Amino acid sequence: MASIPIPNDFNKCLYTPLAEADPEIQALVDRETYRQFRGLELIASENLTSLAVMQANGSVFTNKYSEGLPGARYYGGNEVVDELEVLCQNRALEAFHLDGAKWGVNVQPYSGSTANFAAFTALIQPQDRIMGLNLADGGHLTHGAYTRKRKISASSIYFQPLPYQVDHSTGIIDYDALEKNAILFKPRILICGASAYPRDWDYARLRKIADINGSYLMMDMAHISGLVAAQVQNDPFEHCDVVCTTTHKTLRGPRAGLIFFRKDKEADLEKRINDAVFPACQGGPHNNTIAAVAVALKQAATPEFKEYSTQIIKNTRTIAEELVKHDYKLQTEGSDNHLVLWDLRPLGLTGSKIEKLCDLAEITLNKNSVPGDKSAATPGGVRIGSNALTSRSMKEDEMRQVADFLHRAVQIALAAQKEAGSKLIKDFERVLKGDGEAAKQLKQLSEDVQAFATKFPLPGVPDSSTIKKTH
Ligand SMILES: Cc1ncc(COP(=O)(O)O)c(C=O)c1O
Repeated sequence: MASIPIPNDFNKCLYTPLAEADPEIQALVDRETYRQFRGLELIASENLTSLAVMQANGSVFTNKYSEGLPGARYYGGNEVVDELEVLCQNRALEAFHLDGAKWGVNVQPYSGSTANFAAFTALIQPQDRIMGLNLADGGHLTHGAYTRKRKISASSIYFQPLPYQVDHSTGIIDYDALEKNAILFKPRILICGASAYPRDWDYARLRKIADINGSYLMMDMAHISGLVAAQVQNDPFEHCDVVCTTTHKTLRGPRAGLIFFRKDKEADLEKRINDAVFPACQGGPHNNTIAAVAVALKQAATPEFKEYSTQIIKNTRTIAEELVKHDYKLQTEGSDNHLVLWDLRPLGLTGSKIEKLCDLAEITLNKNSVPGDKSAATPGGVRIGSNALTSRSMKEDEMRQVADFLHRAVQIALAAQKEAGSKLIKDFERVLKGDGEAAKQLKQLSEDVQAFATKFPLPGVPDSSTIKKTH
């Protein structure tokens, strides 16, 4: 192509790089890059995606409207987008080892929550009954969350939910109680999948329960979809009718959702799912995101991704073993997947305090309810995932170091709580930001974490020397 001069008019800004066009946003990008580089990312629902995914996500596909499906759009100019979407669909089926005669996929959902709501819209009528794992037991908001006072999620506003639980003595899903309740409640959809459950799912048992009650079986594999693609978890596709997922957790893609559906059971299910996504729940698909999802799915089908996923599980187990060596209490005493749930109640600490303290030490994790918590406002545990650190090529030795940092964090929290002389979080924070012994130890921990983390590359940034030290 010939080089065309950039216009010197009102459109000049369309060609200016971010750093020049908007230094304020560039500065925030730089700060966030440095935050991700110098810290330890342990949030189980996050990951560090690849350069190629970010490039596709930031591509000119963002400009295009393409309401409808490949070959049947409401706008012209979609010949390239049609190819993109079909490629993404094929890669999705391939990544999850699916036969295109049995399974179809819609790759347009903007995210996990919208994918779930579109699936409900396709499968059932307003006010029909659904059953999903209780929020406080590790379930997700979109699986019917409600409290005594409030219908929290659209899934409880528009449908009638009844949760099932884990057995509080073991932390494992109580399938017997679920079966008994399902026989009484007769849900139209039985939902499995979770946001904070460290064990695998018994799909055969769930299928049996669904069949007794004529329910659809829907898996929301958002958290574990990378592990499912890598075949290091049980396969939900063997037993479920519909499988939804996000693409940005263990699957390590951009932020989006996918809905897989059986094509060989109900003749019209494919149309119902597609119509539910558009026009029922969404408008134009985000084609830049679909391009990035396609890139991630190609990566997820490689032997390297299987190695990555296998390493995630080894890494989580190593963290679990190290924490258990210190006599800490983990829900289910370990993990089969990418996360552990650490019950802090026996130590007299809350999840909020550890989250706060870890934030000050550049360790990012989140407070989480643990089964049996009395109040959702003060969850008794934290959730720790190894998936992002595994993307930084950290392995078992590094996980032992990470577990040691976590151990130090908890010991500092105990000392700070004592120094505060109260259990109030504001007193705790005052001590952490003060100049006493706990604050000194926390400062040292933060320095050690940063010295450790900055030895590892940050995905998406090929040359770490370009990372700006912003604070
Ligand atoms: C199991 C599960 N489903 C759905 C979602 C929602 O995804 P999103 O935040 O992309 O809407 C999450 C998010 O954490 C999740 O854990």
